[in-house]
Amino acid sequence: MKQDHLIIFDTTLRDGEQSPGASMTREEKVRIARQLERMRVDVIEAGFPAASNGDFESVKAVADAIKDSTVCGLARALERDIQRAGEALRGARSARIHTFIATSAIHMEKKLRMSPDQVIEQAVKAVKWARQYTDNVEFSPEDAGRSDPDFLCRVLEAVIDAGAGTLNIPDTVGYSMPGQFGELIRDLRNRIPNADKAVFSVHCHNDLGLAVANSLAAVLNGARQVECTINGLGERAGNAALEEVVMAVRTRQDVFGCETRIDATQIMPASRLVSGITGFAVQPNKAIVGANAFAHESGIHQDGVLKHRETYEIMRAEDVGWSANKMVLGKHSGRNAFRTRLTELGIELGSEEALNAAFARFKELADKKHDIFDEDLQALVSDEAAAN
Ligand code: KIV
Ligand code: ZN
Repeated sequence: MKQDHLIIFDTTLRDGEQSPGASMTREEKVRIARQLERMRVDVIEAGFPAASNGDFESVKAVADAIKDSTVCGLARALERDIQRAGEALRGARSARIHTFIATSAIHMEKKLRMSPDQVIEQAVKAVKWARQYTDNVEFSPEDAGRSDPDFLCRVLEAVIDAGAGTLNIPDTVGYSMPGQFGELIRDLRNRIPNADKAVFSVHCHNDLGLAVANSLAAVLNGARQVECTINGLGERAGNAALEEVVMAVRTRQDVFGCETRIDATQIMPASRLVSGITGFAVQPNKAIVGANAFAHESGIHQDGVLKHRETYEIMRAEDVGWSANKMVLGKHSGRNAFRTRLTELGIELGSEEALNAAFARFKELADKKHDIFDEDLQALVSDEAAAN
């Protein structure tokens, strides 16, 4: 893989599904996986096969259906989990096992009740077990964002020697700050002697609303895989949103100097599909995929966009799968947008005075009514015609 390629690892079907209320059937997972494949996602994490028989069957169905993306299954650093993942992925054209164990002091002491040395030993064993099923193995030190960097270096060096090709650094509880997280990635890459044998990946949660910012800070410091989900779905406040990461890197290539292979025109279909299946509505002001992401209401903005789109748009709505940008008529709208909409509706008012009178009536209406629809404009203009 070329160094300037940023690998997009989608975990909507695994971490996204861990969002309370977002569980999906096998058929739903396959439908979403096909859309992710169409979008040219590099790696699809299809689920956690040891979690339940249902999830095992879902991962198996995705592995059997998908041809152009690598299919990944999650496994704790336990032999039985890894065996289940290996079995579920048997039919995949390209399979990856993703194994993890926690490395922060709080997780090791309070949750795992293991010493740091035991954790290293278990991590190495896990990677070796996984290598019996595939040569594509990813390792994650869970809660890396709160782990001691010296200890992370020891664990990661050991798992690379054991055969892990991807080192994923999770900010499991969304605790990191962008500058700090970027520095962590840079230090790990510089300090681990065999670091160049692995791809560095990041997996950021959004508890402080920083999942995308932290992921991008990591990319600036050499991470070449980002783990993310459609619409930012995921545990608690969610994961880094795929659409935001992809479009940030694409729109600001001058800053990032790397590119994904994502077909961005498939972003909106993917967003609608995931929202429809899970029942999780997308907030209107959500970047890229929210209903207002490419909508303009204020007169100044509408006038600017009608004269030249780039005055107020840094991306084209069509490039991420919307049919077009949107001029919303409301009390902030100006004459130019009003006239343009009338023309689109095939309404010619004949004179500048008639337009001015219709515009005044429109403003009166917009002060009273939240949304102005095309039917309102048609009614308003025929009232105008009747009055003259
Ligand atoms: O958030 C996390 O740490 C995870 C790991 C399993 C990668 O989801
Ligand atoms: Zn996670």
